Amino acid sequence: MQTVELTKSNGLSGEVVPPPDKSISHRTIMFASLAEGKSVVRNFLRAEDPLSTIRAFRMLGVNIIEDASGEIIIEGKGIRGLAEPFDVVDCGNSGTTIRLLSGVLAGNPFLSVLTGDDSLKQRPMARVINPLKQMGASIFARGGDRYPPLAIRGAGLKAIDYTMPVASAQVKSCIMLAGLFANGVTVISEPQKSRDHTERMLAAMGAEICVDGLRVSVKGNARLRATDVAVPSDFSSAAFFIAGALLVPNSEVLIRGVGMNPTRTGLLKVLADMGAEIKIENSMDVSGEPVADIVCSTAPALKAVKIGGDIVPSLIDEFPILCILASCADGVTEIRGAQELRVKESDRIKAMATELAKLGVEVREYPDGMDITGNAQFSGGRVESYGDHRIAMSLSIAALLAHGPTVINNASCADISFPGFFEKLRGLEA
Ligand code: S3P
Repeated sequence: MQTVELTKSNGLSGEVVPPPDKSISHRTIMFASLAEGKSVVRNFLRAEDPLSTIRAFRMLGVNIIEDASGEIIIEGKGIRGLAEPFDVVDCGNSGTTIRLLSGVLAGNPFLSVLTGDDSLKQRPMARVINPLKQMGASIFARGGDRYPPLAIRGAGLKAIDYTMPVASAQVKSCIMLAGLFANGVTVISEPQKSRDHTERMLAAMGAEICVDGLRVSVKGNARLRATDVAVPSDFSSAAFFIAGALLVPNSEVLIRGVGMNPTRTGLLKVLADMGAEIKIENSMDVSGEPVADIVCSTAPALKAVKIGGDIVPSLIDEFPILCILASCADGVTEIRGAQELRVKESDRIKAMATELAKLGVEVREYPDGMDITGNAQFSGGRVESYGDHRIAMSLSIAALLAHGPTVINNASCADISFPGFFEKLRGLEA
């Protein structure tokens, strides 16, 4: 519950390596646990959320160790080798852990109970429970089968053809994982393209995955081969430094080794529309994911934009920091079609609208987005993170621009995805 105080910055400069990608880190543990043989993960994210995934798979009988060099070694059990957990599995704050794990457990013939912290216990689970029940799993959950805790008794699953009502990589990945256990080919259609790390990594491990636009199919009764993975830096964590460098005067920052998967980098397209010039250098492929360095310096002026439609899932985690960028742009930025933000670690529309208003920004809230009036002068003062890592880090960038000091309550939740964030930010100010 630690509070952080930040003051106006005179410039951010230097190099920074953001932490390893959270989405990819979770997946390495899960998929390698289901593979046959030993996988080694380099640059795994040692933060609260992926550590919840490690603890969960250890409870399912998987031997996961960290060697002296910091690499994570996973002794895969094969697709049918997990064991019934002896106790309730606590997924902490992690939506990715509970939703993807549900897909795995739906295919396993034993009882598991999944829970999490107070935030996770309020996040919607019907979106995974419904398709998993259609596949043949027995699942019970709180609030009329809608919220954690979840009790899952897996079964011999049948393949389904499922149309997802919302674009969500967590839901898509959950069904794909259940599909690995099913008889037949599971087909999933999503309304918009969400991040595709699962498709890439499962295919690299030998699963029969076919992607055709917004449709993904997975062949059941699969076998996965152990595969070593190097995790790139997380674009979503890099986004705070991108915004800081663009907004704080006298800045130039080199951000190294960032994952540039196009299903994740919608923020770069929005920033180009806002008039920012961002350089991408040293592009390469690392373990099947595009990676590059990003060079960002103070933008002369940003323009307001309209955001909505198909681009939304590709910047879903960047909306809090985009709200800070929009507050500094010229004109009114309109965000629509982003109702999913209301069911993240906090209600991110309400949280950002409330905290920006405290800092003196004119904001209008809509069920699926907000209007943010730009050219704002942040006042500073006391703001709230709502225990949401991305809200805490976004407000810290506003703090670097504010006239007065800004105190962020419960800022230590940044550790969920980015341990050491405030130290790294201060390092760029030196
Ligand atoms: C994630 C998918 C996204 C994202 C979350 C991580 C993943 O959630 O917001 O931080 O790793 O698959 P949704 O799939 O619910 O949009």
